[in-house]
Amino acid sequence: MEFVAYDSVLLKLVLDYTDAGVGIKTRGPLSPFLGKLKNRFDAYTKGIPAEIRGDKLYLSTAFPPVPSKPFKRLVLSQMKRALGFHSPDNLTIMVTGDCQCNCEHCLVYKMNRGDELSKNEIFDVIDQALELGVSQITFEGGEPTLRKDLPELIEHVDESKATSMAVTNGQYLTEDYVQELKEFGLDYINVSIDSPYPGVHDKFRGVPGLFEDATEGIKNSVDAGILTGVLYIARPGNCDREALERMVNYCGELGVFELMIDKIVPSGRWAGKDVLSEAQEEEIIRFQKEIAEKKGKNLITNFFQLRRPDFFGCFAGRRWCYISPSGEVMPCMHVPISFGNVKEEKLSKIWGKIRKHPLFNKKPNKCAHEDPEYKENYLKNIPDNTHLPYPIKEQD
Ligand SMILES: C[S@@+](CC[C@H](N)C(=O)[O-])C[C@H]1O[C@@H](n2cnc3c(N)ncnc32)[C@H](O)[C@@H]1O
Ligand code: SF4
Repeated sequence: MEFVAYDSVLLKLVLDYTDAGVGIKTRGPLSPFLGKLKNRFDAYTKGIPAEIRGDKLYLSTAFPPVPSKPFKRLVLSQMKRALGFHSPDNLTIMVTGDCQCNCEHCLVYKMNRGDELSKNEIFDVIDQALELGVSQITFEGGEPTLRKDLPELIEHVDESKATSMAVTNGQYLTEDYVQELKEFGLDYINVSIDSPYPGVHDKFRGVPGLFEDATEGIKNSVDAGILTGVLYIARPGNCDREALERMVNYCGELGVFELMIDKIVPSGRWAGKDVLSEAQEEEIIRFQKEIAEKKGKNLITNFFQLRRPDFFGCFAGRRWCYISPSGEVMPCMHVPISFGNVKEEKLSKIWGKIRKHPLFNKKPNKCAHEDPEYKENYLKNIPDNTHLPYPIKEQD
């Protein structure tokens, strides 16, 4: 079955959904210029979950559905990128620094520079991001569900421009609350689970009973008809074969759309701790393919694979933009460096500073945390006893 993702005199982009996965077809004068990008995306989309709901094809919680105006904006932004104009595709707003958990890896650790953004300030950031070309707005934290006005923030996202997503620890996703989020327009929910073993998950997150509550929350979200994913941050110690198989069964039983696997980054409380080895990453990629073949349906998305140098490279400050709870603008949630505050400057101006910076205007390669220039010249110079994110003007 074919879904037209983009249609103009210069380019027609069609997603072809078959039992074997989703393929991409392009036509029109611009088609030959998309060669490499198309091949990469084609290879990636073949292995990721896809589902038809109504008249739309859903690929992953990472992308707007096809056809939709937000997806069209995403395609447009890729075309502009090819011409050298980079605008963010996803804006993530950390709507609060508060959280009931105390996770061993939490990147929000020390991210408490100044007062949290007010509702109107967040409305304004959303408007500015949509103006910049963003096609997905993600609400995170801290724990976004602790913000009483989260439904209103979601409602403020113009659905003709961007999809909306919440990333949550899942504890407060009651039936009524999830229904409310849906009514206010939330498209996707990702619930973070760090182990298929309830006791291990609860201990890692520092909250007894969290696994059970989060599982209930996932069920409620699936039942409410929100496209629901489980976000699994793979780290040494939770990505052996048995744990991954259990996660697949867990997600299958709950009817989640996608098990999104990303990898631990040595940021926040995980700074200085062990990350995945190359061999562990490869093993996860192999496992994903094997599960897709065995089940005849894709369930797993390797989000880290998409950001590898042989795919698109690091997204920080290129496809991603993050807003800290107090309004500081960062290239990525794992890069605790502020290029300005939206309470003082326009988002477009701050984004321009990120884009011009030598760390981000070079060809995207590995994650910033694997970039010696970032590690030696920036990360190391952030004082231990400071509030984050740390201003770039103190460093350059
Ligand atoms: C910062 S949390 C905020 C939303 C919510 N409180 C939650 O836990 O889902 C967003 C995601 O970042 C992940 N995360 C936190 N610290 C991380 C780290 N050091 N490396 C990779 N992912 C991390 C969490 O597991 C979660 O999936
Ligand atoms: S990772 Fe999420 S749930 Fe855990 S402490 Fe950080 S913000 Fe809270």
